[in-house]
Amino acid sequence: GWDTPCLVRWGFSFDDVSHFILALNILLYCGHAQDVPQSVLTVSPSWTSPGDSVTLTCSVEPPSAGWRFFWYKAVPKGSIAYTYELLAGGTTGTEQDSYIIHGQTHTAGYKCRAGRGDPVFYTQNSDLKFVWSGGVNPAASLTVSPHRLQHFSTESLSLICEGNSAEWRVKKADEDGKRSICSKWGAMNGSTCNTDTRASSGVYWCESETQSSNAANITIHRESVTLHCRHGDQRKEKNADFYKDKTLIEMDTNHQHTHEITISLMSDGSSYKCRFK
Ligand SMILES: *[C@@H]1O[C@H](CO)[C@@H](O)[C@H](O)[C@H]1NC(C)=O
Ligand SMILES: *[C@@H]1O[C@H](CO)[C@@H](O)[C@H](O)[C@H]1NC(C)=O
Repeated sequence: GWDTPCLVRWGFSFDDVSHFILALNILLYCGHAQDVPQSVLTVSPSWTSPGDSVTLTCSVEPPSAGWRFFWYKAVPKGSIAYTYELLAGGTTGTEQDSYIIHGQTHTAGYKCRAGRGDPVFYTQNSDLKFVWSGGVNPAASLTVSPHRLQHFSTESLSLICEGNSAEWRVKKADEDGKRSICSKWGAMNGSTCNTDTRASSGVYWCESETQSSNAANITIHRESVTLHCRHGDQRKEKNADFYKDKTLIEMDTNHQHTHEITISLMSDGSSYKCRFK
């Protein structure tokens, strides 16, 4: 009610400056904001081959009884947003807290929420979860060049989209599920995203308004690594000398930690040794 304080959460992000798109989200909870339960979606398996079945499971936090479950598929809209299409089970929802998708053919995102009562009281929507397709879909495919799954941030990768669309977006989901598009870590040239040094590890895929490609889980190593020199007696913090190809090299000037050194992977191929003083 309007007599109770409202909690307003708002935020905006320029995810795609080149298109001047401003995503603005305003969440307004009045009254019992803490009482609105959250839906949590899990997908299994998260990687599929064309034709596999996928099970979506929706749970309510904190758990309680009497819910019906509503299932949504994400439909790309513009470069970063999605609209949500209600899956079968429809407006009345399903009694089961799981939903099986038969014949998953390509990468797709899903959300769920639960509702109960009349009028229906809904939980907050779950986060968007993706099911990644590892198999090639001729209508939409992603090719990574050079064709390796391990890369260094000092080299550019070409993420090439092909299929039934003239306008592709290359998207990435990082480990926390945070999504971004090519302009954050590279530049599009036609249907190809060429990455720059900002690119990092994650799952990459191509998307158009109607198609989604296979996805690739790409590991991108930063250009430096830290070597640790560990003394047998770990209670003693000792300083160490580091040698590169038998020559004493300068140490990291991190005073407390002269038992470790950060080296550039550009000097790959050298052998490193350490010795406690
Ligand atoms: C885009 O790709 C084409 C064909 O590979 C190339 O000739 C062109 O120089 C590229 N453009 C930019 C801006 O890199
Ligand atoms: C991607 O690969 C990394 C390293 O093998 C793994 O830890 C991670 O769970 C994978 N991500 C997904 C979404 O499968």
